[in-house]
Amino acid sequence: PIVRLEDYRPSDFLIDHLELDVRLHPTQTRVVATLRMRPNPEGRPDAPLVLDGDELNLKAVSLDGRILTGEEFDASPQSLKIAQAPRQPFTLTIETEIDPTANTKLMGLYRSGGNYCTQCEAEGFRRITYFLDRPDILSVYTTRIEAERSEAPVLLGNGNPVESGPVEGTDRHYAVWHDPHPKPSYLFALVGGSLGRVGKTFTTMSGRKVELAVYVEPGKEDRADYALDALERSMRWDERVFGREYDLDVFNIVAVSDFNMGAMENKGLNIFNDKYVLASPETATDQDYANIEAIIAHEYFHNWSGNRVTCRDWFQLCLKEGLTVFRDQEFSSDERSRPVHRIAEVKTLRARQFLEDASPLAHPVRPSQYREINNFYTATVYEKGAEIVRMLKTIIGDDDFRRGMDLYFDRCDGTAATVEDFLAAFTDVTGRDLTQFARWYEQSGTPRVAVKGHYDEAAQTYRLDFTQNTPPTPGQPTKEAMAIPVALGLVSHDGSPLGAACDRVDARGVFLFDEPADSITFTNVPALPVPSLFRGFSAPVKLSLDLPNEELLVLLRHDTDSFNRWQAAQTVAMRLLAALSTGAQKLDEEIDAFSEALCAFMDSDALADPAFAALVLTLPSEADVAQDIGKDVDPDAIHRARTDMRRRIGKASSQRLHGLYEALAVSGSYSPDAESAGRRSLRNACLDLLAAADRSMGETLAVTQFETASNMTDRLASLSVLTTLPGAAREETLSRFGERYRNEPLVLDKWFALQAAIPEDGTLERVTRLMEHPGFSIANPNRVRSLIGSFAMLNQVQFNRTDGAGYRFLASIVLRADALNPQLAARLLTAFSTWRMMEGTRRRHAEEALQSIAQKPNLSRDVGDIVSRTLDQG
Ligand code: ARG
Ligand code: ZN
Repeated sequence: PIVRLEDYRPSDFLIDHLELDVRLHPTQTRVVATLRMRPNPEGRPDAPLVLDGDELNLKAVSLDGRILTGEEFDASPQSLKIAQAPRQPFTLTIETEIDPTANTKLMGLYRSGGNYCTQCEAEGFRRITYFLDRPDILSVYTTRIEAERSEAPVLLGNGNPVESGPVEGTDRHYAVWHDPHPKPSYLFALVGGSLGRVGKTFTTMSGRKVELAVYVEPGKEDRADYALDALERSMRWDERVFGREYDLDVFNIVAVSDFNMGAMENKGLNIFNDKYVLASPETATDQDYANIEAIIAHEYFHNWSGNRVTCRDWFQLCLKEGLTVFRDQEFSSDERSRPVHRIAEVKTLRARQFLEDASPLAHPVRPSQYREINNFYTATVYEKGAEIVRMLKTIIGDDDFRRGMDLYFDRCDGTAATVEDFLAAFTDVTGRDLTQFARWYEQSGTPRVAVKGHYDEAAQTYRLDFTQNTPPTPGQPTKEAMAIPVALGLVSHDGSPLGAACDRVDARGVFLFDEPADSITFTNVPALPVPSLFRGFSAPVKLSLDLPNEELLVLLRHDTDSFNRWQAAQTVAMRLLAALSTGAQKLDEEIDAFSEALCAFMDSDALADPAFAALVLTLPSEADVAQDIGKDVDPDAIHRARTDMRRRIGKASSQRLHGLYEALAVSGSYSPDAESAGRRSLRNACLDLLAAADRSMGETLAVTQFETASNMTDRLASLSVLTTLPGAAREETLSRFGERYRNEPLVLDKWFALQAAIPEDGTLERVTRLMEHPGFSIANPNRVRSLIGSFAMLNQVQFNRTDGAGYRFLASIVLRADALNPQLAARLLTAFSTWRMMEGTRRRHAEEALQSIAQKPNLSRDVGDIVSRTLDQG
């Protein structure tokens, strides 16, 4: 069945209050739910009451205290129907029994590492009890949790703790939690288990005291300090930047080791994938620390953007996710380096969202239909959703943006809102018509913007001609013009300031390009300038600008916008890589010129801003190049081209790279701060290029770094460089690493991922072998994503083997995983979304592998949906 946005109608019944009594047991957990309900004045008057369920086992049901007989209701594992529900307020009591140990889907109540935990978004609550499991049903929850004390000494729920104590005459105990804020069922959570705790008191801006705590596996408390610190910084930031205060007496975070996604914003009780909580210098990289900071912030920020203001229906998912990603990006930018973070955001956006937009899985930021909502927790909804909020801010300016956000939060607090409600707040504070802007939510596909510059020396004017078009995507054959904010400026060839002016460009330096074609003219331009367009990546579009490489390299040298300095180098590198990959011959001069520009850049900038320099020195990935080429892709040719470019750049700059490698050594004890991390990232980028230029020297340096590293960042980076150098040193170092961390699952994940990405014949056999490693488990999402996901998503050459073995392997794993955990299987399957880009032989093998999945009976809805859309002709 397909769910459509246009079919939305309000629920026929409301649930004002829910009392849950959960008696935890490994295989027979009893749930008694008491629902205080009433007909919805906005619903249909004679509608039956239909509650959602999923794999539920009903034990008893009563209405206003009277046990219902079999004729009075109709129950199945999927639903509970009462044809004649009262037309006035009533109380429904439902008892179900569930088996958390058998729950391998990790939705609803399940067990992880011996603990009990829940995941209810999007539709997991119906796996706990029958309910109106939709986000526009807001209820006040009181939860009583009971468990054997030895099995689950810690019992946590949403809201504030009310009471707790022993269950007399047994070895069990209980805790009662009350959440005064009405919320949808997807924000429900409970945890029971044996957990260690770190905590601190936070005083909010109005002076209220909140107990913050992070719960982790006992013995790992010291790895939770960074997360706790990030939480405190997030709370302070949301007060300062958005005026948002926390609203309960406690805020708890629990780390679990089996989790389908990154984390979940359950009210007052966030549950996290442990890889986004646990960190120590010995086990976590700088990137891990940055991810933890961002995800802790993300989930905390949901308290306002998601929980206080929630979504009317799942089509509005971007309302909370796009906005909250935007908020977490802003937080990380303020806490770290804004330009460096912006580049990282854009790299992710292009690698994941642009890829999705160019694939058969393309969909609007607000989809109009779905078969399985879990398949829409995508880069488009999250990352492009965040770009829309950022563009809105760029267009209306910081002050109006903040005023609009305040109005949105005030007006929609306590409601289940829509994208229209969000935009209305900004229309109301600015008086602007945002109708055309709203197309960003409706129209899928990445807009292309082509720009041509014309200099008129006699008139001293410079004209820019813009055109836009958006390619067709599934269900959307034709497109309309988008409102595209173009932050821009002109740069002189020697970097001296230009007095140019253009009345189409506002005080913020932004031109709003909202027609199929438009031209703007700068006056007072004394010499041919270089246009710097989409500064800070002001819109999620693909730009084609026909400027020669040497003019782009003027931007690398002289642009005042850091993002475009980086972009200029990437654009030149991409042109060279794409040309080399598709067989162009004489590029020696161009490559030499690019290497020289990088050398000059290193001399002027590397030590001043190492994190930024590391980004400039890193070539576009093989997947980026494949996307840029777009059709008849030969991953082997791309791999050869990129290896060759790295070798040549490394050779041309080896003196400087050596110098930097020495100069950047960080001494003293490890600190994850952005500046130290930046030095490490540049140093490791130098190591990579040095190894590309001279394998034996690279091997020596990498082995030495591996042996002397004082932290996981440097150790893993050296191991990563070694994986590009086949030989005994690599194998020996890999096995030492595997041995050293054999009891550290999150570190083994890194080890699995590196090996799965080795671009050599033999990797498929290696991956198959690693699946037998005692640290691997097909039931654990982190393990599967590290080993199988890295192979399929990062190893362009070996996943896309010409003999199709990579595709067949992934298909077989998808089917195995699907029987346990459909969400995990569906995620893996999205690796096939590039199949139509490949050259013919690979394309045929990929199609066969996809067909082999599609033909299987009993596929989950998750996998069935992805496989059919991936195969669809468009
Ligand atoms: N709301 C969570 C977050 O972005 C993601 C939860 C998604 N879960 C799922 N099963 N689809 O923070
Ligand atoms: Zn989120």
